[in-house]
Amino acid sequence: MKAPVRVAVTGAAGQIGYSLLFRIASGEMLGKDQPVILQLLDLPQAQTAVKGVMMELEDCAFPLLAGMVATDDPNVAFKDAQVAILVGARPRSKGMERKDLLEANGAIFTVQGKALNDHADRKVKVLVVGNPANTNAYIAMKSAPDLNPRQFTAMLRLDHNRALSQIAAKAGKPVAAIRQLAVWGNHSPTMYADYRFATIDGQNVKSLINDEAWNRDVFLPTVGKRGAAIIEARGLSSAASAANAAIDHIHDWWHGTNGEWVTMGIPSDGSYGIPEGLMYGFPVVCENGDYKIVQGLAIDEFSRERMTLTQNELEEERAAILPLLG
Ligand code: NAI
Repeated sequence: MKAPVRVAVTGAAGQIGYSLLFRIASGEMLGKDQPVILQLLDLPQAQTAVKGVMMELEDCAFPLLAGMVATDDPNVAFKDAQVAILVGARPRSKGMERKDLLEANGAIFTVQGKALNDHADRKVKVLVVGNPANTNAYIAMKSAPDLNPRQFTAMLRLDHNRALSQIAAKAGKPVAAIRQLAVWGNHSPTMYADYRFATIDGQNVKSLINDEAWNRDVFLPTVGKRGAAIIEARGLSSAASAANAAIDHIHDWWHGTNGEWVTMGIPSDGSYGIPEGLMYGFPVVCENGDYKIVQGLAIDEFSRERMTLTQNELEEERAAILPLLG
């Protein structure tokens, strides 16, 4: 039996947590032969709810669940964690300005970044889900000077998966047949889902769909505003699909993608003219527990416009939180 992997999850009592933890414990994320220890962080007032979730986890009798810890202290939650999924964040309340939201989250993610820096396994893989995910990931990364910035990522995988489904429906082909989709930028309505390089059974998706108006007027707005559409329809935000995307993101980073492209929000290395360090969605290939940006893609005028729009938004968010980083 392999040694258990310590997986820290924040916001463990929340909606996404409830869809996420059971799948991690069942082995869907790290593998059906990989025991896990769940280290659950939530606010003091949510500790009773976390206990309830732990009771249910116990009642599943998951063979791979080797232990659980519940705490309101990030230093405890991140101790020796090899994977950290940062879901808990401050939601936008009524009348709250964007700047206030960024600052409230800045306070959370500086503390959590420092706790990861001081206590996590030196190779910890960090995924930030809590919104604004890219900027929260940036703050955590900057608050953890002893860890490699590449260990910090933001979740764009939900946008990627949403785009895959829309393309499959439009093309009348199964989702599994689609390769080489890219999503650029911020996890926000400005993200740019780009199917110019995508293929289905070797055929180019752009030529197959051959409908630029659909791309601009239907596809991009549908993917960009999907979260709002789900809240409108369900009365609650997209928790199960977000949890699913988190599982996909860590699964692929951990196990590799066999040459397939996936989208991750990662600190830019300057590729495609995106300023170095900006936490930006890129098409990547994962291998040996690491990722690398797919290189050499031609960027046309429409794409550059969209990529710059989402870059500008991220730079504005970064400028708003810079004072918090000292
Ligand atoms: P939720 O409100 O149901 O749960 C959030 C949980 O986080 C609560 O239990 C809360 O007590 C906890 N929490 C708040 N501050 C915390 C802190 N400082 N430390 C630890 N725990 C803390 O929200 P839900 O639906 O689970 O969503 C969580 C986050 O994920 C939100 O920010 C949401 O916007 C974001 N999200 C991101 C997506 C993405 O694609 N990146 C997709 C969907 C949601």
